[in-house]
Amino acid sequence: MPFNLRGRHLLTLKDYSPEEILFLLKLAEKLKADKLAGIFSENLKHKNIALIFEKASTRTRCAFVVAAVDEGAHAEFLGKNDIQLGKKESVADTARVLGRMFDGILFRGFSHSTVETLAEFAGVPVWNGLTDTYHPTQVLADLLTIREQFRMLKGIRLAYVGDGRNNMANSLLIGASKIGMDFRIGTPKSLYPKKELVDEMKLIAEETGGKILITEDPYQAVAGADVIYTDVWVSMGEESTFEERIKCLKPYQVNKKLFESTKNPKTIFLHCLPAFHDRKTAVGEEIFQTYGLEAMEVTDDVILSSASKVWDEAENRVHTIKAVMVATLGK
Ligand code: CP
Ligand code: NVA
Repeated sequence: MPFNLRGRHLLTLKDYSPEEILFLLKLAEKLKADKLAGIFSENLKHKNIALIFEKASTRTRCAFVVAAVDEGAHAEFLGKNDIQLGKKESVADTARVLGRMFDGILFRGFSHSTVETLAEFAGVPVWNGLTDTYHPTQVLADLLTIREQFRMLKGIRLAYVGDGRNNMANSLLIGASKIGMDFRIGTPKSLYPKKELVDEMKLIAEETGGKILITEDPYQAVAGADVIYTDVWVSMGEESTFEERIKCLKPYQVNKKLFESTKNPKTIFLHCLPAFHDRKTAVGEEIFQTYGLEAMEVTDDVILSSASKVWDEAENRVHTIKAVMVATLGK
């Protein structure tokens, strides 16, 4: 029986049961197949979606716009300099106003409390498109990509290597625990995820049959992994930490040596993107020269190899975000 998620927010995957997450993934698979077959059901016809962005975005913004247009909705981009959010107008008042005009609100920004306040006062579904703490819509795309590759999720060994306490690590920890995956984080002690979150997820993993391992040893983290995942070493808003992060995360770079150490010929590579894998990025060249790096979190011979599914993963942002909007707002 389909789940009724109408009217629900998506602030973190903590708020969704394993069955609800699987329901969203199956809906995304259907919507993806429909789109490939040229079937557009216009589930969001006449709906208006507000897209509030305090931080930059390529995938999340474009995925929301494309998904909205595919389903017959209008999406309005509201950048940080376009509206008064939290400056001349409180977040609560902006939420009250936008909720009178729009049917759903996407927020990407800094403080997680901003998206919580929007959800409290908007009166329409609010979706978190990344905060400093969580990135739930990305994890839905990651899970869909893993399911496409392995035809299953439960028991899959997913190893995240890098900054172990950023929004991606937190959200993967939640998603993997909910689904009953064998989840590992390889990260220095100084970047371990918060103990409260790990303890909370360990309780969930006990129920779902999942496993959680946090280790300082990147090789232990990836041993036998089906999926190796990494993210940038320095997230948006944390630019002042560049030097210390490079120093402490250098041993966690996903290069061929680390990748092949899984001893699993079927290991795939995922990254939420954007990735610092070459010198062509604007900040890349200078940083790479200063620190004598050839790459940061992942090398070209991994991210551009056939084991890398990052482009499928990026495309899946559209299908999973569409599923979230259709499920919480559709007809
Ligand atoms: N993965 C992701 O959220 O990408 P953007 O920052 O480009 O939206
Ligand atoms: N951890 C990264 C994710 C980008 C999608 C950041 O917050 O910048």
